[in-house]
Amino acid sequence: MKNITLDVSKAVQFLKEGTVKNYEAKVKEAQEALENGTCPGNDFLGWLHLPSSITPAFLKEIQDCANILRDNCEAIVVAGIGGSYLGARAVIEALSNSFSWLINDKSNPTILFAGNNIGEDYLYELTEYLKDKKFGVINISKSGTTTETALTFRLLKKQCEEQRGKEEAKKVIVAVTDATKGAARAAADKEGYKTFVIPDNVGGRFSVLTPVGLLPIACAGFDITKLVEGAADMEKACGKDAAYEENPAAIYAAVRNGLYDQAGKKIEIMVNYQPKLHFISEWWKQLFGESEGKDNKGIFPASCDFTTDLHSMGQWIQQGERTIYETVISVEEPDKKLLFPSDEENLDGLNFLAGKRVDEVNKMAELGTRLAHVDGGVPNIRISVPVLNEYYIGQLIYFFEIACGISGNILGVNPFNQPGVEAYKKNMFALLDKPGYEEDSKAIKERLAKEK
Ligand code: PA5
Repeated sequence: MKNITLDVSKAVQFLKEGTVKNYEAKVKEAQEALENGTCPGNDFLGWLHLPSSITPAFLKEIQDCANILRDNCEAIVVAGIGGSYLGARAVIEALSNSFSWLINDKSNPTILFAGNNIGEDYLYELTEYLKDKKFGVINISKSGTTTETALTFRLLKKQCEEQRGKEEAKKVIVAVTDATKGAARAAADKEGYKTFVIPDNVGGRFSVLTPVGLLPIACAGFDITKLVEGAADMEKACGKDAAYEENPAAIYAAVRNGLYDQAGKKIEIMVNYQPKLHFISEWWKQLFGESEGKDNKGIFPASCDFTTDLHSMGQWIQQGERTIYETVISVEEPDKKLLFPSDEENLDGLNFLAGKRVDEVNKMAELGTRLAHVDGGVPNIRISVPVLNEYYIGQLIYFFEIACGISGNILGVNPFNQPGVEAYKKNMFALLDKPGYEEDSKAIKERLAKEK
């Protein structure tokens, strides 16, 4: 079986000679600190050997639960935010038909995502859509107290019980949460929902290979065993005993730190040439953004879908401030085959492409863009994925997770906390007069009055 591969040749030319080699000691140190649990955030290292530790019995328990939901639901709402939904959405969208919601495919339930915003229209329209549907809910929250998710779950639980009756609703509501704490756990225990535990030592953005990601992915009809197998193979390929030059995560971590430190590259744009990968980039943005963006440091993770965004962001990338580099996820072989037809009149002048695969044109667009952007001063890292299937997406997930752990350690931050996320919550609760926030509430109201 092939692995995903990394090509940094068009990035190292922006670095001083020997830079990648010079990072070897730092990378090794970071890997050892992760392995030995001596790095900052060492109580959140449960993801490190997670793929190889998942047992077939555990996967079966998840699959059995997914089968109950699949058998009893036309639609399944995954309620979660941040790390509690992005991984599942990334995998499901990468593997699904691009028009799945328009296809009347009765063999799979429609998977919907909510609990990731507080948009009134969004929630209203969701509840409207679900009105005549047999639907179930997977309530995912590690803390069990996240406002967006808890509010959404409150709405959906009520609606599900009203539509299906309390007893029937119990069969199709599942909680993925803490073993003992939080409102999601309390509700699940009280109502007798099936539950899965998010391990204490796995942070949200590293949790896609726990039931947080695996249960929704299994509900969508994808093979979670293959996903975990791919991740486990990457765990070996990127382990601390792998040769440095052959360890893609080590090299990716080294090059991105080199670009940041030496070449003033403060922004990494994750690029794809397959629209299905849009949410892989969203997941990646959270993984790296929340892990590295702290202590006034960190590369800003951005993303573009090409060639679409070449017609909106292409100008900036080619000639804007030279603080960016690109990482491209390139899929070697698409799942489907489509040839451009010949046209007798050739009014569009495109007969020179007749008989060619759509992907051949896409690949030339990728190569042409790479050449142009590198010429324009944009370093290019390329991750090649043989095909889009569960196995290789599993590889990609673990590759990014371990690269993030190494990279954050090299950067000198704790990659496993997210203290900055609390600031908006505190203000929001104070503004909403949440009990317990009386002093903050007074202070924020005084401040707003002064600012008027
Ligand atoms: O990565 C993280 O820790 C966060 O993005 C969380 O996943 C997110 O805030 C949701 O938290 P919770 O699962 O506690 O509802």
